[in-house]
Amino acid sequence: KYPEFVKIVEVGPRDGLQNEKEVVPTKVKIQLIDMLSGTGLSVIEATSFVSSKWVPQMSDHSDVLRGIQRAPHVQYPVLTPNMQGFQDAVAAGATEVAVFGSASETFSRKNINCSIDDSMLKFEEVIKAAKEQQIPVRGYVSCALGCPYEGRIEPAKVAEVASKLYGIGCYEISLADTIGVGTPGSMLQMLQRVTQEVPISALAVHCHDTYGQALANILTALQVGVSVVDSAVAGLGGCPYAEGSSGNVSTEDVVYMLHGMGIETGVNLDKVMEAGDFICSALNRKTNSKVSLARNRK
Ligand code: HMG
Ligand code: MG
Repeated sequence: KYPEFVKIVEVGPRDGLQNEKEVVPTKVKIQLIDMLSGTGLSVIEATSFVSSKWVPQMSDHSDVLRGIQRAPHVQYPVLTPNMQGFQDAVAAGATEVAVFGSASETFSRKNINCSIDDSMLKFEEVIKAAKEQQIPVRGYVSCALGCPYEGRIEPAKVAEVASKLYGIGCYEISLADTIGVGTPGSMLQMLQRVTQEVPISALAVHCHDTYGQALANILTALQVGVSVVDSAVAGLGGCPYAEGSSGNVSTEDVVYMLHGMGIETGVNLDKVMEAGDFICSALNRKTNSKVSLARNRK
């Protein structure tokens, strides 16, 4: 039985843009978020408070967060790997943050320069500070279906990291197929293990579409009862510390599939497509959304 409503977490302005080689002007990022705010999406991940030496594309995080027009009923979480990121985010007006851990030890070191255990200590600090200010914290588990350095990752390891994040106070855990290698088979196995530790209502899936499996993997997650799906407008995206990782599943394609199944999202597909057209022309590139390609042909 499928959920009646699926919450879509739009990650395009952050995951979608962080890997762009050319610096995207701040005003383009702001306009993208403002357009997405009018689509009915309830969560738009806006930017990352990470080191500008590591990810120069996100160095305008504070200007982006200050520049957007916040719509009522829309949350604008931002990534905060540590206390410095958290404090900068709060100073710029963040009202929701996300910490991002990994089920792969090597990826953790490459991405955030510390071990999984050390990352949990940093996240605990962030969550403690966030709780004091009533700021909700979301948690990611990268490499949930495979790692660019270690290959296969045991579902038990994903469950362990997800359960730690849940235990230290993340309200929602997004299980990420960072390099898009998962299949419905590995997604099902992984979710069966993780749901032994974390309630299904607190789980989200975050699928990159590198191997073209994202929609199938999402459908599998819905069958298990997951009702939160991360996606990026126009299928933008990729992680700078996961070579070969391509874009997230596109929001347009996810919305099209869900609505076709009679599942509500509250999201207006045409408006998401407009935001997709805008960012693709600003970046001078073709969309990765099949739905958008098909519709624009007409
Ligand atoms: P570090 O070098 O280990 O940090 O970086 P440190 O605490 O040792 O400090 C070193 C310097 O960095 C100091 O500056 C700090 O002030 C500065 P210095 O004294 O040398 O001038 N620093 C910071 N500056 C700005 N913001 C901060 C911050 N913290 C320290 N928050 C750090 C650790 C995590 C910051 C670094 O490794 C980093 O920025 N990594 C970037 C990771 C990233 O953005 N990855 C992409 C996002 S995750 C992703 O895409 C996966 C996801 O989509 C899910 C999936 O698909 O898997 C979420
Ligand atoms: Mg990602």
